[in-house]
Amino acid sequence: MSLVGQQVLVTGATGFLGGALAMRLAQDGVHVKALARQPQKGMFLSKQPNITLVEGDITDAERMKQVMQGCSIVFHVAAALGGTLQKQHHINVDGTRNVMLAAADAKVDRVIHVSSIAVYGYHYNEDITENFDQKPDKVPYNITKSQAESVVREIGKQHHVDYSIIRPAMIYGPRSNAWTATMFKIAKLKPTPFLGNGHGFTHPIYVDDVIDLMIILATHPAASCEAFNCAPDPAPSWREFLNGYSRLAGHNQWLGLPPFIMRPIAPIIETIFTLQGEPQEVPTLVNFIQAKKTYKMTKARELLGWQPRMPLQQGIDSCAPWLREKGLLK
Ligand SMILES: NC(=O)c1ccc[n+]([C@@H]2O[C@H](COP(=O)([O-])OP(=O)(O)OC[C@H]3O[C@@H](n4cnc5c(N)ncnc54)[C@H](OP(=O)(O)O)[C@@H]3O)[C@@H](O)[C@H]2O)c1
Repeated sequence: MSLVGQQVLVTGATGFLGGALAMRLAQDGVHVKALARQPQKGMFLSKQPNITLVEGDITDAERMKQVMQGCSIVFHVAAALGGTLQKQHHINVDGTRNVMLAAADAKVDRVIHVSSIAVYGYHYNEDITENFDQKPDKVPYNITKSQAESVVREIGKQHHVDYSIIRPAMIYGPRSNAWTATMFKIAKLKPTPFLGNGHGFTHPIYVDDVIDLMIILATHPAASCEAFNCAPDPAPSWREFLNGYSRLAGHNQWLGLPPFIMRPIAPIIETIFTLQGEPQEVPTLVNFIQAKKTYKMTKARELLGWQPRMPLQQGIDSCAPWLREKGLLK
């Protein structure tokens, strides 16, 4: 089944992933209601013929019911990616509840909920499949993304709302601040500083690959009430990922800092984060970046016939025009 000609809602449309998804759907002939809490941030979308910007906040339950009327599919992308537990709970958990209840009210065919590999936490040292227990530990983002999934499953069951959950890894591509702009800023330093030899695995997934899978999840019968990882399998190393960006910057020099230097610093950094109301697990993260594990894509391959298509260096190279626009690349 195709989405062409259907009316869909994209929450988080002013953001990196939601914006790219809304553009892609509109170009494919899908009618998109693009939710924006600040419509001026969505001006880049309003030039597209098939996109209608609608003002709204997912924490406003009544507004969600209004904007969802007439939609057959909801792509729930909006989330808070930082801030205190209270703030992230309000948006990621309460907001998701509003989206699911509105979807029940509007009788949408399916909600595609964007979760994250963060729900598994940072402690596993082996390859991770969708069946693994979620161990979000004390990081507010990980906790609230995991709780949001529970809300999706609960309301889906109680109110007969079909859903599919995608758990992307580190999404990179043009307009990604975390995994493109920030990585490029580190990689262009000559030499590129990093903890250790960079042979631990990392999990960058190109934004168009994530969008491809989201579109499949919207209509594929086997995606109903299921969750899917969305990650590179096999995973590349940090060295391959950062070197991809260094190559764009015109060098390939690496400075491996011994991981033990983090031992005395990690508790201090952790205390600072905790005092700021957003606890992080710094020592665990140091281990995480050295671990050789993959988020397995077997389920999506076998059930949906999907796997990431974008080769790493090609994806990184495609970010060059945007990095130039931002003044980061000459
Ligand atoms: N980026 C990654 O590497 C990554 C990896 C795994 C999963 N994810 C998930 O992917 C999704 C999108 O992430 P992203 O990187 O695109 O983040 P982003 O650029 O920060 O976009 C987040 C979007 O959510 C919107 N939003 C936040 N609170 C809202 C509220 N109360 N009501 C309505 N909209 C609200 C933001 O609106 P404003 O523009 O008004 O702030 C923005 O449009 C999130 O669910 C995230 O957890 C991201």
